[in-house]
Amino acid sequence: MKQEVREVPLSGPYLGGREEELVLEVMRSGRLSLGPTIDRFEELVAERVGAPYAAAVSSGTAGLHLLCVAAGIRPGDEVITSPYSFAASANCFVYEGGVPVFADIDPRTLNLDPAAVEAAVTPRTKAIVAVDIYGYPCELDALEAVAARHGLRLIQDSCEALGAEYRGAPLGSHGTSCVFAFYPNKQITTGEGGVVTTHSEEEWRLVRSLRNQGRGDEGGWLEHVRLGFNYRIDDIRAAIGIGQLEQLDEILALRSSVARRYDELLSGIAGVELPCQDDRTHRRSWFVYVVLLRDGATRERVIGVLEREGIGYNRYLPSIHLQPYMRERYGFGEGMCPVSEDVSSRSLALPFFTALTPAAQERVAEVLAITV
Ligand SMILES: Cc1ncc(COP(=O)(O)O)c(C=O)c1O
Repeated sequence: MKQEVREVPLSGPYLGGREEELVLEVMRSGRLSLGPTIDRFEELVAERVGAPYAAAVSSGTAGLHLLCVAAGIRPGDEVITSPYSFAASANCFVYEGGVPVFADIDPRTLNLDPAAVEAAVTPRTKAIVAVDIYGYPCELDALEAVAARHGLRLIQDSCEALGAEYRGAPLGSHGTSCVFAFYPNKQITTGEGGVVTTHSEEEWRLVRSLRNQGRGDEGGWLEHVRLGFNYRIDDIRAAIGIGQLEQLDEILALRSSVARRYDELLSGIAGVELPCQDDRTHRRSWFVYVVLLRDGATRERVIGVLEREGIGYNRYLPSIHLQPYMRERYGFGEGMCPVSEDVSSRSLALPFFTALTPAAQERVAEVLAITV
């Protein structure tokens, strides 16, 4: 009997029996936290992304926050970041009193425009948080050059980009400190979780201390050498992460074929702009599939039909500077970052996950073909 596709979710994890096995091992071992499974997970992530050091944390946001603490961001320091990202890309330094300065994005890649970053530097600028949005690598060389010219710290928010490559090498391997995140809509998941990767042993030791209540390398459980946080991951989640990492190549390949199928199904539809393609320098790790429609009204019309059809979607991504708390606290408003604001008004995330079926994708394409 032909099975009709009913609901199509926006995203979902790709989990197999291996994760269950590894979780059971941890549960039976009795080492649920601060155990060897975390060390193993960190070694595997470090190896995979080509960074000498990795520290697992409770979320991507926690990892970004710790890199901001490590960068010494203090109240009043300006930090330049992308307005077209998830709120945590800015929140991570606002927690430390850093002042957000949003530089506009490139309309093709949707990542920070290095010229706009350069123009946003002031004597108060302390750091840049560069995002690899939707798994597409940011302009790392140009941003590193801006950072070096002005003596700024560069933090890479690679939360959406595990497995992406820049100039033929994985993100994480280029020398910047990166954060990868593992919420269930990401390429791999630990439920909640993240990893900081770094090329500095000193920064790695500091992040490990900060995530663990500021405890030192020596000293006991009740000695706190600095103000720290509880941003630890636990061994159960690390076990899920190991099981997921073992399948990363397969997962990335499947996600690439899902994206290619969308490219084929949607490329003929006038009024639907597809995500930018890879080139010699940038290789995307597919996180979400976001299209640009003509305008906000078209987007709402498409959303109406998707809702009726039980097909998942989201208005990825609102510009961070226009979030209510940002407007209220800093007085930000429309017109600050025109490219980001335009993209935010008409971008739409379609269902996208590792096991998405061709039949479901065809339904999504049909909706777009008849609605835009
Ligand atoms: C670009 C970006 N930065 C940061 C985060 C925060 O990660 P987490 O949800 O694990 O805290 C996310 C997660 O969605 C993200 O997409």
